[in-house]
Amino acid sequence: MSSASQSRPWDVHRLPPAVGRVFLVTGGNAGIGYFAAEQLAATGAVVVLGSRDRAKADAAMTSIRSRVPGAQVRHLQLDLADLSSLKTAVDRLDLDHLDAVVHNAGVALDDPPRRETADGHELMFGTNHLGHFALTQWLAPLLSAAPAGRIVTVGSFAARSEQLDLDDLQSTQDYRPKRTYGRSKLAQMYFGFELDRRLRAAGSTVLSVVAHPGGALDSLTPSRTPVGVTNTPGERLRALPSALLVQGKDAGAWPVVRAVLDPEVQGGQLWGPRVLGLRGKPRREPIPSHMADPTIAARLWAVSAELTGTDPHLGFR
Ligand SMILES: NC(=O)c1ccc[n+]([C@@H]2O[C@H](COP(=O)([O-])OP(=O)(O)OC[C@H]3O[C@@H](n4cnc5c(N)ncnc54)[C@H](OP(=O)(O)O)[C@@H]3O)[C@@H](O)[C@H]2O)c1
Repeated sequence: MSSASQSRPWDVHRLPPAVGRVFLVTGGNAGIGYFAAEQLAATGAVVVLGSRDRAKADAAMTSIRSRVPGAQVRHLQLDLADLSSLKTAVDRLDLDHLDAVVHNAGVALDDPPRRETADGHELMFGTNHLGHFALTQWLAPLLSAAPAGRIVTVGSFAARSEQLDLDDLQSTQDYRPKRTYGRSKLAQMYFGFELDRRLRAAGSTVLSVVAHPGGALDSLTPSRTPVGVTNTPGERLRALPSALLVQGKDAGAWPVVRAVLDPEVQGGQLWGPRVLGLRGKPRREPIPSHMADPTIAARLWAVSAELTGTDPHLGFR
């Protein structure tokens, strides 16, 4: 199941070198995406931070360079809430291949009112799911040009208890922020597993994997002042009880990083934290049965293709 049986156990603090490889992390300027980028940069890979805000990306790159001598980090201007901008963004990458993309960027609203992207899609479904769905089509040729490209979709524990409403994917009839968020993450997970089925059927060398961070709080995260995380020793002490259940965003990045790097990881797998799926070292998880339903996944795919005017499947060879 994992690399442990065949080689040394996976060590989140001793990652395999990845010199010469190129990874894109969406939302790499903050949170889990930032820590995934920092950890991946330490492997010697080129890491591209997909971020809608240049100043935040600059701060993140400065932070990574200060911690990882010789880090090769770049910024890509990327706004997942603006579907029409995504092809141009990928063209600006100016790469001949991409070894992995981490679909990490996400928006989670706690309160009403319902909000929409510039394209008129509900903001969480539109950004988290539709944005990454469309981005995948434009990245497909670069991922196919890599020896073994990977798409790592970041799902969520919050998706476990949700069901999609295929007649109200955009929550126009009944908007409840937490539920709409959980459903947007569920849509992403359906996408990750369906993409794996389609890539296999097409005989592609590209893998699609789903990973989730468990519960990851800023208050349990080591300080990275340039990216807006500063926890004093007192604050860290007060946050300690939550560490029984959840973890910091540095640890939240571990399953994602393993899904990018571990040669033993296979397409269609789900990776998450070891302890109750909420915290700890990364391990492979069983896929909840409702997320493996290919009929719902295919219907979601068809609607997503119609809403975005893209079909990621067409980009892979
Ligand atoms: N934290 C958790 O406990 C948890 C649990 C389960 C799953 N997750 C998932 O893990 C991922 C990262 O979560 P996090 O806690 O690290 O969140 P976070 O700290 O809020 O960071 C979210 C990132 O997404 C970016 N983003 C938001 N909208 C975007 C857009 N339209 N275009 C491009 N980038 C955009 C943000 O950029 P700005 O800085 O410009 O806003 C930021 O870089 C998300 O997919 C989330 O659903 C998190």
